[in-house]
Amino acid sequence: MATKYTERDARITQLYEQLIEIEQRLIPTGLHVFGRVPEQQERGDLLRMVGSFDRPESGVRALPKLVAESLGFDDYEAVLRESPANETRQLIDEIVREAVSQFSRGGAATAANWLKERAGVNQEESLPTFRLLADISEKLDSNHEMEALLRALRGEYIEPGPGADIIQNPFVLPTGRNTHAVNPYSVPSRTAFARARQVADGLLRRYLDEHGRYPRALALVLWGLDNIKTQGEGVAQALWLLGVRPVRDALNRATELEVIPLTELKRPRMDVVMTVSGIFRDLFTPTMALLDKAVRLVASLDEPTEMNYVRRNIEESQVSEFDDAVTRVFSNAPGNYGTNVNFMVMQSAWEDSSSLGDLFVTRKSFAYTRDSKGQTVEGREAPALMNDALSRVEATYQNIDSFEVGITDVDHYFEYLGGISNAVEKRAQARPAIYLSDSLSPETKIRSLEETVRLETRAKTLNPKWYEGMLKHGFRGVAEIENHVTNTFGWSATAGAVDPWIYTEISKTFLLDEAMLQRLLELNPYSVQSLVKRLLEAHERGFWNPDEEVLEKLREIVNELKRAS
Ligand code: BEZ
Ligand code: MG
Repeated sequence: MATKYTERDARITQLYEQLIEIEQRLIPTGLHVFGRVPEQQERGDLLRMVGSFDRPESGVRALPKLVAESLGFDDYEAVLRESPANETRQLIDEIVREAVSQFSRGGAATAANWLKERAGVNQEESLPTFRLLADISEKLDSNHEMEALLRALRGEYIEPGPGADIIQNPFVLPTGRNTHAVNPYSVPSRTAFARARQVADGLLRRYLDEHGRYPRALALVLWGLDNIKTQGEGVAQALWLLGVRPVRDALNRATELEVIPLTELKRPRMDVVMTVSGIFRDLFTPTMALLDKAVRLVASLDEPTEMNYVRRNIEESQVSEFDDAVTRVFSNAPGNYGTNVNFMVMQSAWEDSSSLGDLFVTRKSFAYTRDSKGQTVEGREAPALMNDALSRVEATYQNIDSFEVGITDVDHYFEYLGGISNAVEKRAQARPAIYLSDSLSPETKIRSLEETVRLETRAKTLNPKWYEGMLKHGFRGVAEIENHVTNTFGWSATAGAVDPWIYTEISKTFLLDEAMLQRLLELNPYSVQSLVKRLLEAHERGFWNPDEEVLEKLREIVNELKRAS
């Protein structure tokens, strides 16, 4: 009896933790409307997130840390490693939430006084954080987007401003400025390298837990905009996996590398295949060279192959020339962008699923490296080299750095991470383990693709808070719901990573509920038609096997729409 109860209790605790994870996930509850400032609730959530990070450069401490320390929990990182259902964590969260709400009502001094009374945090410590929030709050109120657009159309000057995620870098405010990107030589920043270490270690720990050994090779997707937002966290993850760190030259540019000794690394050097987007290639030319240099450096080390997987794989490779066998940085042909895998999926233009991975390789197998004479090679078509590198990949991975854009919000995650995973499955003759990270939250979390699809579906697509937020936008809102379903389908097509219940619940929520169906049809019958057709396609391709009545109903909606048009 006792074991039975223990098992039951453990299962219930696990369920409870999953519920809290969904509840605490930040989601956008509507689209940004050009020229409009954020609403009260959204602003509160945003301020709370901004106030949850240490910002040493501005002398600002994270509110949860201040509260934790004041309550006697000096190791806040340890508290974060506890389950979200942990009482201390919940208490800290509640206090921070109320402090930000005090701030919204009464300003910085009121909030600092309240926090002193409630949790004993000294005003001198919390005031810098609340002052930062006051500054941001004021900037959120002023929106010059429309004026700036008009000025731009008249060919007038627009003040520049950095482009980043608002939580990563609050100085992106006010909006409506001329967004500039990043100095590629500053990438990866020191903070990015420190954070990358945590994430990449978490990734390896997870693989090790599930497989009992390290992967023979990993494939990473690197995007341009993400590496701007995070100052190069993705780049830093690749370097840390290889076991090297960036070194600044006399001009403070990250152009050199230093080998991290195995005694410090305490694990083998990983082999990393990098597929980078066209945007990354264009923005980060020196970084492309740095990544290539890193692999070459690791390949040249005099180390036992069981501790240096780059060397081990080069030895096992079918490619005879060293300069070819060491090629790991791939992108599109110069001047070309994207994988087209998303278009192939959206247009249902594929039969055998492996053609999606083949398309990925056709588009992305251009090598960016150096030849044996040290000459830069910018985009040499090299499918044989990419096929060889992918044939040893056992794990694929992409860093997610934004709360706003997740793996079912846009088609680009499945075209890249789905595309490469699909390519690996055929070339390595085994499906890789597919992982994503949430590197923006203070606690970094590695999730499998399947877990991430479930979480995104529950937190967004099936969440009334999310879809009602979208439906406020009428025609566009229905299109967003349909987009989510198609992007979810993209994960079935490329990686078989969607549980059938997800399609069932989508049907129930949007199509089998008569009142909802009528609302959607009135707002945007075109997107309803695409949505129903996508669900029927999911069935035809064997991703979902619904009851006959459900299929009947879906077919009926399509026929109805055909008759009406
Ligand atoms: C990028 O930032 O590199 C990127 C953005 C959108 C789609 C694909 C790549
Ligand atoms: Mg797009």
